[in-house]
Amino acid sequence: MTYLRISLTDRCNLRCVYCMPAMGAKFSPKEELLSDEEILAVVKAAEKIGFNKIRLTGGEPTIRPHVTELVREIASLPGIDDITMTTNGLLLKRLAQPLKDAGLTRVNVSIDTLDGEKFTQITRGGKIEKVWEGIHAAAEAGLSPIKMNAVVVRGQNDQEVGDLAGLTMDNPYQMRFIEVMPLDGVDDVHDSGLVTTAETIDLIEDQFDAKLEPVEAPAGDPARIYHLPGAMGTVGFISPVSEPFCAFCNRIRLTADGKLRLCLLRNDEVDVREILRGGGNEDDLIEQVRFGVWRKPWGHGLLEGDRNMGRGMSQIGG
Ligand code: 5AD
Ligand code: SF4
Repeated sequence: MTYLRISLTDRCNLRCVYCMPAMGAKFSPKEELLSDEEILAVVKAAEKIGFNKIRLTGGEPTIRPHVTELVREIASLPGIDDITMTTNGLLLKRLAQPLKDAGLTRVNVSIDTLDGEKFTQITRGGKIEKVWEGIHAAAEAGLSPIKMNAVVVRGQNDQEVGDLAGLTMDNPYQMRFIEVMPLDGVDDVHDSGLVTTAETIDLIEDQFDAKLEPVEAPAGDPARIYHLPGAMGTVGFISPVSEPFCAFCNRIRLTADGKLRLCLLRNDEVDVREILRGGGNEDDLIEQVRFGVWRKPWGHGLLEGDRNMGRGMSQIGG
């Protein structure tokens, strides 16, 4: 285990249909969320036992106050080689350069459609122009290579996967297509909307009348990577449902309310907040992170119909 994903907040300035339920997600009271100092203490403990890669997620990580300072502190730890962020991009126009200066290496930006109206519909209110401004600011700041995420949902954006893949023809992006997972509050979107990677690949290949060419993925990357003939960028496919990559999983998650979530799709969690707030020292914290790693499940049970979830994506961290 070398990769820690940290949810900086369970709140978000969007309400994507595959992430939050229509009736609104459950947000934790502020006092239940970890402070900057507490997050840093967990990162230091994880660093001591060999974690070297951090991803900041949410909710929406950029709405957390002092996010730039937090990045700076994490980036200054000698054992941390890579610090990245998954964001909806809305605030990147302003934050990309300060985040880069603070030590952020790269960003993944969610963009499920190229159509402004559809974007507003999928995100329940977002403006796509803001995302593009954010993506351009990230490119200018050198937060690259920029990866873009699209969760493919039937009837929403499945007919657009070819156009999204087409973005990589003239741009050095990696466009990643993700199978929708049945997380808490959005299992109906999964049930009626799942488009498997195999189908997405067919749709793209049909549109370009060409075969996608495989590219070797870096170790630990759950995506399978290809490129369209002649393209500048690459396309990636993340298939948690049809082809689980659990056997190669090298990550655990820290939820905004201070639990180590050992598998996205299983409820097993180990509490670090109780150590932090109960007078535990660094050794106790290290012990607890180690315990979490030891307890990590062998894989999720989606294919067996096991939906042991209990929490939504915005709470766990995407
Ligand atoms: N299934 C798959 N991916 C999801 N995300 C959010 N909800 C889901 C879901 N139900 C991912 C999106 C987004 C990131 C924050 O989390 O890719 O970019
Ligand atoms: Fe917010 Fe990302 Fe969830 Fe959309 S997917 S509601 S942008 S956290």
